[in-house]
Amino acid sequence: MAASFLLLLTSVGLFLSAQAQDCSKPVGGDNMDLKGDDILLQTFPDGIKVTFACNVGYQSVGGSASITCTAAAWSPLRMTCERKSCGAIGDVPNGQVDYSEGIQFGDKLTVTCDPGYDLVGNSIIQCGHEGWMGRLPVCEVKHCDPPVDPTIGSFYPVKETYEYREVIQFSCPEPFTLNGSKSLSCSETGVFQPAAPKCVQVECKEPVVKFGHWDSGSRGPYTYKTTVMFKCNEGYRMTNSATIICGINSQWEPELPKCEPVECEEPVVKFGHWDSGSQGPYTYKTTVTFKCNEGYKMTNSATIICGSNSQWGPELPKCEAVPAVQTTTTKSPESTTGRGHFNICLVRGIKDYSGMFDLFTVQSLDWSLNELLTLIFC
Ligand SMILES: *[C@@H]1O[C@H](CO)[C@@H](O)[C@H](O)[C@H]1NC(C)=O
Repeated sequence: MAASFLLLLTSVGLFLSAQAQDCSKPVGGDNMDLKGDDILLQTFPDGIKVTFACNVGYQSVGGSASITCTAAAWSPLRMTCERKSCGAIGDVPNGQVDYSEGIQFGDKLTVTCDPGYDLVGNSIIQCGHEGWMGRLPVCEVKHCDPPVDPTIGSFYPVKETYEYREVIQFSCPEPFTLNGSKSLSCSETGVFQPAAPKCVQVECKEPVVKFGHWDSGSRGPYTYKTTVMFKCNEGYRMTNSATIICGINSQWEPELPKCEPVECEEPVVKFGHWDSGSQGPYTYKTTVTFKCNEGYKMTNSATIICGSNSQWGPELPKCEAVPAVQTTTTKSPESTTGRGHFNICLVRGIKDYSGMFDLFTVQSLDWSLNELLTLIFC
């Protein structure tokens, strides 16, 4: 009984001491785990050696992967794991590889094709445990279908299909004119640009300009880009372009010249006024005659004519103040006393009082404009 009790105590003691020597589950570094079935255990007996392995996508960059349990403690783990790198994948002709996310495990690269190229394959490839998971796509050049055969005219070269950037040239037989672009290019969207031209027959009508006449240029037939210059008849003036060009739509461009009757501006004569003639509108060859206001004298022609250039000719009448002239005698009214009888031959000024006066009469005149008045005694 006692022996068996002792035995029990011993086995308990052994069990306890064995428990005290065991290690608990070791904790590894980042991105690693215990290798094999060890991962299932919770306690590890004294003296056992376990090995760590890097997780998928990671690789050891040195240091021992094994540790040993000694008296309930694990030896230090030296191994470190680092994300695997897939490296560069290579170039894609006519495309770009975007590695901006990185080239390590889990990173993705993106391939894009240059304008005018189509991507065939996968544009996104991920970096896996064993390298890039997939093949690079290819960038295939875009193609354009040939344009629809024109009814008139042709293009060159003729092919079943055209590659991006290829150019074709159109031409028209005589007497047709190409309406549109002569050359088309296979664009990056896979269609020819710009739109295909057409061969059109251009002929403009005989241009008729009212109050005008042919001046120079073509006499017809009026084919594409034919030019004619017009002039207006006398007394008319051009209000738009004198030159017209036969356009692609068989219309004259910019538009037929317009001849409008000439008109002169309202004539304004300073210190003068209308006397006779037209009072407007002042068309070509209209005449107006002016008179100067009192105290002013006309120094050029009183009559003007509206010229073909819309200008009055010869020039607008000019009215100038009559200049004051000094007394041309030694005698003057002031020096005379009484009612002497001086004959005055001429009184010039604002009013023309020429004539024979005696002094009394002279004194009774309106002298308010004295400065402009001159008495010439005789
Ligand atoms: C020429 O082309 C223009 C632009 O496409 C079009 O508007 C015009 O009608 C064409 N003219 C003729 C005579 O076909």
